[in-house]
Amino acid sequence: MTKQVATNVQWHHGDITREDRTRLIKQRGATLWFTGLSGSGKSTVAVALEQKLYEMGHLSYRLDGDNIRLGINKNLGFSAEDRAENIRRIGEIAKLFADTGVITLSSFISPYRQDRDRVREIHAASDLTFIEVFVDCPLEEAERRDPKGLYKKARSGEIKNFTGIDDPYEAPLKPEIHLYTAEMSLEDEVNTVIEYLQSNGYLGEQ
Ligand code: ADX
Repeated sequence: MTKQVATNVQWHHGDITREDRTRLIKQRGATLWFTGLSGSGKSTVAVALEQKLYEMGHLSYRLDGDNIRLGINKNLGFSAEDRAENIRRIGEIAKLFADTGVITLSSFISPYRQDRDRVREIHAASDLTFIEVFVDCPLEEAERRDPKGLYKKARSGEIKNFTGIDDPYEAPLKPEIHLYTAEMSLEDEVNTVIEYLQSNGYLGEQ
C-alpha cells in the first residue's frame, strides 16, 4: 500500500453530490478496466466501445497505457514497482472520472493481480463500480500480431522485462467480462460489453 505522506489533509465535500451529477448527465459513472497482454486488443476494444457508447448517447472516456505514459506517468518505467505506481495513479484517476459520471475505459496491461485488486478496492470504498474486463489472447497470437514490433524486440533482447516474454502476466481469476479476442469479432466483443452494462443497469433506460 502506498503510504499517506501529507498529514493534516482531509477530503473536502462540495454541495453537488454524485446523485446530482447523475441526474444532470443522465448516466451513472463506472470504470471498465481492460487488462491483457500487449497486442491483446485492449485499446482496439476500448476505441470501438467508446464509439458505440457515443452513438447510444453515453459519455465515455479512454485512459490508455501509452497515452498516460506519455503524460502524467512519463517518469515511470516497467519494473514491478513502476508498474504498480502506474496502475495506482490510473486507478485513482479512473475513480475520479467515474465519480463525475463518465464511463471510464481504462486499458493497461496491468499484469499484477494485486495492483488491479487495489483499484477495485478503492472503487468499492467510494461505492463506485469497477468492472474487470479480461482481454484474453494467447501469447502466440499477440506475438503474431505484434502491432508495434515490440515482441520482436523483446525476443531479440533489445527490450527487457517485456510482459509475456521475460515478465509475468497474472490473468484475472474472476473477471466480470471475459473477451476471447483470438476467436471473437470486434463487434461481438463490443456487444458483449454493452449487454453486460445494460443487463446490470449501468446504461439506465434506453
Ligand atoms: S503496465 O504493465 O504498467 O500496465 P502499460 O499498459 O501502462 O503497462 O503500458 C504498456 C505499453 O508500453 C505496451 O503496450 C507497449 O507499447 C509499451 N511497452 C514498452 N516496454 C514494455 C515492457 N517492457 N512491457 C510491457 N509493455 C511495454
